[in-house]
Amino acid sequence: MDTMWRSLSRYICIFFLLALSGLFFLFSNINILEKLNCQAVSMFYQHQSNIHSALLPEGPSPLDHNQSYCSQEPSPEEALEEHDLLESIAWPQPQPHSVNMSLNQTSDPAHSLFVILPAGGRREWHVGNQLEALVHMHDFQGRPKSYGGDFLLARLHSSTLGAGVAGQVLDHRNGTYSAIFPLLWQGSAQVEVTLVHPSEAIHVLRRIREERPDRIPFQSLFRSGKLSQTTVCNLCLPTNQELLCNYTDPHTGEPWYCYKPKQLSCDTRINHARGPYVNHLLVNKEALLFQSGVNIKVPIHPSGSDSVIVLPEKKDKADVERSSMKTESTRITPSGYYFQGSWRALGGGVMRQFNISSATQCLKGKVVYMYGDSTVRQWFEYLNTLVPDLKEFNLYSPKNVGPFMAVDSTHNILLKYRCHGPPIRFNTVIASEMRYVANELDGLTGGSNTVVFISIWSHFSTFPVQVYIRRLRHIRRAVVRLLDRASGTLVVLRSANLQALDPKVSLYNSDWFSVQLDGVLRAMFKGLDVVLIDAWEMTLAHHLPHALHPPPIIIKNMIDIILSQVCPE
Ligand SMILES: *[C@@H]1O[C@H](CO)[C@@H](O)[C@H](O)[C@H]1NC(C)=O
Ligand SMILES: *[C@@H]1O[C@H](CO)[C@@H](O)[C@H](O)[C@H]1NC(C)=O
Ligand SMILES: *[C@@H]1O[C@H](CO)[C@@H](O)[C@H](O)[C@H]1NC(C)=O
Ligand SMILES: *[C@@H]1O[C@H](CO)[C@@H](O)[C@H](O)[C@H]1NC(C)=O
Ligand SMILES: *[C@@H]1O[C@H](CO)[C@@H](O)[C@H](O)[C@H]1NC(C)=O
Ligand SMILES: *[C@@H]1O[C@H](CO)[C@@H](O)[C@H](O)[C@H]1NC(C)=O
Repeated sequence: MDTMWRSLSRYICIFFLLALSGLFFLFSNINILEKLNCQAVSMFYQHQSNIHSALLPEGPSPLDHNQSYCSQEPSPEEALEEHDLLESIAWPQPQPHSVNMSLNQTSDPAHSLFVILPAGGRREWHVGNQLEALVHMHDFQGRPKSYGGDFLLARLHSSTLGAGVAGQVLDHRNGTYSAIFPLLWQGSAQVEVTLVHPSEAIHVLRRIREERPDRIPFQSLFRSGKLSQTTVCNLCLPTNQELLCNYTDPHTGEPWYCYKPKQLSCDTRINHARGPYVNHLLVNKEALLFQSGVNIKVPIHPSGSDSVIVLPEKKDKADVERSSMKTESTRITPSGYYFQGSWRALGGGVMRQFNISSATQCLKGKVVYMYGDSTVRQWFEYLNTLVPDLKEFNLYSPKNVGPFMAVDSTHNILLKYRCHGPPIRFNTVIASEMRYVANELDGLTGGSNTVVFISIWSHFSTFPVQVYIRRLRHIRRAVVRLLDRASGTLVVLRSANLQALDPKVSLYNSDWFSVQLDGVLRAMFKGLDVVLIDAWEMTLAHHLPHALHPPPIIIKNMIDIILSQVCPE
């Protein structure tokens, strides 16, 4: 009876997989069938856990798997830039043998460790020096890993001093990593190293990023008279005999399609929304690589002490040179650090703290345009609360979606927020409000009374990086045009930030997707006259838990940096 039930449940489960993924071709081989594990989420259910990335479906992908992603081919210059950008964020490829290994051969934070290395032979550190910790990654059986690609985060902090700074992690590609920190304050400093994902999980994330850009689906409602229909939309849709509505943007060429409703025309599109997340993205035992408390954002323990006492800066020049010699090639420059709870930006002017009256004074006569995702909407909300005379004026905009506007008519301050164009996961955006940031920027006059905030990253995590590069290229062109015609305009760009990850969130929104996009953003806007708010480092260096929407104290620090730029002393 038990056996029967088990085989029955296996068939139900197979049926589900069949129905859901449509990966019919996969099932030609009964051996593969045997290996599909519907209960992969119940951890350690079988102790021999093979990760058969090699057995992935090679059949037709739900989306047209074409690098150009349904828009025109990039020009030769664009293709060259894209190549260089992808090169700059290249992550180690899987080892030939790692496609067929058991969980017990993958990176295990509990068996891994880090050691603080002595500085120039001495256990003595001074402000201005760097501190290096060597991380040794081991597998679940305690054996050293022999290849790289694990995603690690490192932070140096002192809770008593309210201090924290992001470390830089170098992958030696042999199972060891260096975490390097600048020493910026005197007193105690504690090293913290976290495994975000083992390298084996990164390969899974990379695969689903390339093959399942439909894992967060989109849909639109079409309506005319009594007829209405909802159809699926995306950047790119397989055409299997169905007709498409082509909403490719005429200015930027950004593609967007919906299936054409049967009896309605394409002009009857009413709105845009996110559909239900696609499940069952993992095959076989891959779920074992995504376990909270086991191998998602788990701290790595020190061998020996995790803390040092940083002594005052050395005045002896020769000594300083000698101690910095060793690490000269890896001298790191963070964008800032926390001290006594406040962010101190390094380079780029004096940081000030703004209160109600100084913020109002600073924004007097300014028009602030904010474009992007909910992480820039947080700035809108923060400023709206900070400046007492700012009144949000919102007649009919849906909550959390916008567009929003706030006005202080006493001090002539105007704030406006609008979400970026598709792909956007907001529920539900009216079709006529779906605007591309680049087009909005082209509509601005600009000038010294204009401040522009842009934050666009999170909604691109389910797509290949090329999609993000294309979007940023259009935004960058529009920023260059804006700065050219109205040079006093201040443009503030926000980077991606870290967030809370669990097994599910990891597959749609992992920090690994974000770090890849973030690398592209930084590279593409380098050298432009824009201010970058380093939300990545500001969330990494802070003691509060990572969150997609960083807590108010971090937002306050971001706004202080921005206002310090708007109103330099
Ligand atoms: C993408 O599709 C276009 C048009 O069908 C084709 O010319 C191009 O070679 C394809 N690119 C890749 C990388 O497959
Ligand atoms: C993968 O493992 C299976 C046994 O689990 C073995 O039969 C197969 O030969 C292995 N493949 C490779 C490429 O090592
Ligand atoms: C580790 O995995 C290998 C290969 O699947 C298996 O032979 C071995 O028994 C496992 N060891 C432990 C301790 O689970
Ligand atoms: C790993 O590579 C680093 C940098 O090349 C080297 O210093 C270290 O000795 C290597 N460690 C092992 C275990 O091979
Ligand atoms: C959609 O329209 C754009 C711009 O008009 C065009 O370049 C593209 O080829 C069209 N896509 C399809 C699938 O017809
Ligand atoms: C706000 O800060 C300014 C200095 O930046 C100070 O002069 C003023 O007293 C502060 N106002 C309040 C209400 O705290």
